[in-house]
Formats: sequence, structure tokens, C-alpha cells
Amino acid sequence: MLAIAPPGRDAGRVIGSNARAQAMSRTRYVIGNWKMNGTRQGAALLARAVATGVGARRAASPGVVLCPPATLLAAVAPELGAGRVALGAQDCHARPSGAFTGDVSAEMLAEAGCRYVIVGHSERRTLHGEDDAAVRAKAEAAHRAGLVAVVCVGESLAEREAGRTAEVLARQVDGSVPAGSGAGDTLVAYEPVWAIGTGRVATPAQVAEAHAGIRARLGARLSGGAGISLLYGGSVKPDNAAELLALADVDGALVGGASLDAAQFLAIVAASPG
Ligand code: 13P
Repeated sequence: MLAIAPPGRDAGRVIGSNARAQAMSRTRYVIGNWKMNGTRQGAALLARAVATGVGARRAASPGVVLCPPATLLAAVAPELGAGRVALGAQDCHARPSGAFTGDVSAEMLAEAGCRYVIVGHSERRTLHGEDDAAVRAKAEAAHRAGLVAVVCVGESLAEREAGRTAEVLARQVDGSVPAGSGAGDTLVAYEPVWAIGTGRVATPAQVAEAHAGIRARLGARLSGGAGISLLYGGSVKPDNAAELLALADVDGALVGGASLDAAQFLAIVAASPG
């Protein structure tokens, strides 16, 4: 079973001194997942606006990553302000090459300039039938290609209402995050399915409880697991980002809809604690 932080005064609110020291050693991120949106021209403009905004920010702020659709990687890559913003993709195939019509390998993404790739997003799990083993194979492919895998986990509304959240997250973390993963090659994003694209954001207490459980599970299973950055995703907006990003076990955000608007996305970047 997933270890869950005991409810109490600290749950979801206060970062104690030990937790603060640990949290400060983990890298913070704000990642934009554009999903299946954008045209060449619009993508270049959006990426340029984000890179310009990020260029003006304070030094101790999060790593910023944009994940456009595969067809727009080439349009976005030159707009990222000489590395101020990193490039990521939304999915990859597990194999490096072969007869896999319509798929893109992690090696191809690396060659296109990506440093990150999202794997196991709930839209892939649900709409493309990807199970934990498939997600793990994709994360391993990302590692093989030298990419950082952003492994997504999250429970459905039915699972939450049935009181199965901890069990589902434990199963997904165990099944999807490859053995040997660590802070250098893996991020984990907690994205409750019921909060994605719905405007219904998880409460700080729900996020804190889930992240503490995921953190404990990673730490128990992997020697470098406790140092893996944990991102929250699901209706993150400028008006809720500061509260979520201040939570002890939240090291960043994976942003969908609000990443399609430069001002909103930059406001979320600005809300990240330094
Ligand atoms: P929204 O921010 O649109 O809810 O999407 C979250 C998400 O799925 C990011 O991967």
C-alpha cells in the first residue's frame, strides 16, 4: 500500500525545516503540455513569448519546458531563447525504429532537440489503452535516448470515490517508473484524471496527500527515488498555482490549457517559489 502522510496540522500546508531542505535540493519545473493544439505560426509566436518572458525572470526560478505536438517541434525549437526554455514531446514509442506506422521514437525526439518526453499521460492510458508496462517501456526508451521521462500517474473519479486513490497511485508508480530511475532522468507528474481539462482542481490537501504517498513509494523502491521531482497537473491556472506550488512535496506543475496562453503560462512560472 502507498504510504500516505498522516493527516494533521502539517498536511498540505506547512513546510518544516527538514522538508524544506529536501525540497530545495529538488529541481522545480513548470512544463507546458500543448496537447493536439497549434499551428506553425502560432506555435512559434507562443514559444517566443514564453522564452522572452522567462528571460526576464529572476535567477532562482523553475526549469521551463514546452511540449508541442511532434509536427511543431521544428517550429518551436529555434524560439526557445538559447536554452532558457527546454523542448519536450508528449509521447514516444518504446522501440528506437521499425515498422510502427504513425509513431515517433525517443531517439527521433532527441534528434529533434527534445530533452524531455511525457509518457503515460492519462489521455494516452485511456484513449490509446496504454497500461503500466507500456508506459514503463516508453520511459525506458526515453532514458535510452538520453531524455528525461515525465511519467504521469493519476486516479479516475470512480477510483477516488471508491477510496482507491492510494492503491491506484502505488500500482502506477511501481509499474510505470523504471528500476534505476532517479532525479537526473525522471520526473513524476500526479494528474488526477478528474481534474484534467475540467476546471476542477484538486484541493491542496488532496494534492499534498497524493504527493507524499508517491514520494514515499518512490523513496522506498528506488535508491534515488526520494530526489525525483514531483509535479502536479490538472487545471493549474494563475489563480491556483501559488497555493499548489507552495506545498511541501510539489516541485512544479504540468500545465495543459493554460500553457496555450503565454501570459497565463508565465504567471504560473512566476508563481513558483524560487
Ligand atoms: P489542464 O491543465 O488543461 O487541466 O491539463 C492538464 C494536463 O493534462 C497536463 O498534462
